[in-house]
Amino acid sequence: MDYPKDIMSEILYDEKQIIARAQEIAKQINKDYENKALTLVCTLKGAVFFFTELMKYVTIDCRIEFIKASSYIGNTTMTIGNVKISKFMNFEIANRDILIVEDIVDTGLTCKELFAYFNTNKCSSVNVCTLLDKKKRRQTNIEPKYVGFEIDDKFVIGYGLDYNESYRNLPCVGVINPKYIK
Ligand code: IMP
Repeated sequence: MDYPKDIMSEILYDEKQIIARAQEIAKQINKDYENKALTLVCTLKGAVFFFTELMKYVTIDCRIEFIKASSYIGNTTMTIGNVKISKFMNFEIANRDILIVEDIVDTGLTCKELFAYFNTNKCSSVNVCTLLDKKKRRQTNIEPKYVGFEIDDKFVIGYGLDYNESYRNLPCVGVINPKYIK
């Protein structure tokens, strides 16, 4: 079954715009991390689309790793509260320059926990590169080093971002039509 044609009430960024922005950011990363021990860390699942786009244009030597960070209270998934971090592979953190790649930074609580996690494991530096930034909703002092686009406080889907695990495969970022929010 295809998604409804009106699933997005507004398209914010199409594939072309996202790729162009990923290229610009990658260029900056190439300069900023030249001669550093860069590890790009993709946060699953949302950042996968942006991560692979970015990766194509990062031309300096780097490693890639994957991590899953989920915010939850009890057994319900929420964007506030505790953050559970699951690492799939035991990767080297000490003396590495960690760049966390996120789909969206909202309250900043997930990033705050990730910073604490990497810092206690003695990395050389830890920073965030995010496709989207809901800056007005921030509850922490986390400032991403690289931001694709700053957006208003609206629930967005597509390009990796989900609503109830659906819509990640839409090739653009847009605001979900409120009539599909249950
Ligand atoms: P945080 O509030 O910065 O910790 O963000 C937690 C997570 O909430 C993000 O990694 C996303 O998975 C999710 N999230 C926040 N805003 C949106 C949205 O507009 N669409 C889809 N997921 C979102």
